[in-house]
Amino acid sequence: MMELIPLGPGFGAEVRGVGLFEVAARDEVYIQVRAAFEEHSVLVFRAQAITDDLQVAYSQRFGTLEIAKAASLGEGTPFSILTNIDRATGELVPPNHKEALRARANQLWHTDSSFKAPPALASVLSARVVPPHGGETEFTSMRLAWARLPEVQREQFANSCAWHDYAHSRSKIAPELASDRERSTMPPVCWRMRWVNPVNGRPSLYVASHTCAIEGMAQTAALTLVDQLIADATRPEYTYLHRWQVGDVVMWDNRATLHRGRPWPDNLHARHMRRTTISAGDADGVADLRPVRAAA
Ligand code: SIN
Repeated sequence: MMELIPLGPGFGAEVRGVGLFEVAARDEVYIQVRAAFEEHSVLVFRAQAITDDLQVAYSQRFGTLEIAKAASLGEGTPFSILTNIDRATGELVPPNHKEALRARANQLWHTDSSFKAPPALASVLSARVVPPHGGETEFTSMRLAWARLPEVQREQFANSCAWHDYAHSRSKIAPELASDRERSTMPPVCWRMRWVNPVNGRPSLYVASHTCAIEGMAQTAALTLVDQLIADATRPEYTYLHRWQVGDVVMWDNRATLHRGRPWPDNLHARHMRRTTISAGDADGVADLRPVRAAA
């Protein structure tokens, strides 16, 4: 029987009694876990006998999988591979290596693929190699962040649109971290700042480190506002820190959460994680996320 153990401050649950295999194999288990995902936003499965095939079979239950983006390790497959192990040599990569810099970019508060069309519904991250300390993943609820906003801001943001750009968040780590190919294949996209979950009607604030502009606002004021909103949403008392063990699988709702990887001594210890990402469709609320443009 499935059991849910609450984890974070008002969101997040550990799933016990069923695992990825049962979700992949049995409709009735998928329905229960899907309902838990809609309600709790972050689901943790411990001690999974994880394989790439099982992760894909589980993830596909929830929708269409993204194919990893240009220049990502895993490009052209359903996996984004987050690792500091050099594939060719098996050694740890040096601190200026692209993968080390990408790990640093993942340490900014973000929601996966907000810079893509369609954006991501959910991500499924499995731990294959973990460092002895550090390297956790931290989450916050943007649904609870929305609920804490003053009424005047909720009214303002319900009708505001923001631009999301992969190159923008990467430039905070290193100016050239996003390659020309990444820039040209992933141009900025515009979404409303409120994402309403169509299952339960609960709205979330949809801004993150990829947000580079807000329509109708001067650039500096917009970026200051975004930084302030993220800082308010991610105060320590609002977050859940997941300490990884090999075999853990964590799934999160990109509509309703922000997350960030935490640093670890990456010159000393390996960390290897594999992520599948599920695209959001109109049934997941994308229809209402698109900006409404005045007819020409
Ligand atoms: C991610 O941002 O998708 C992964 C975060 C992490 O590496 O912990």
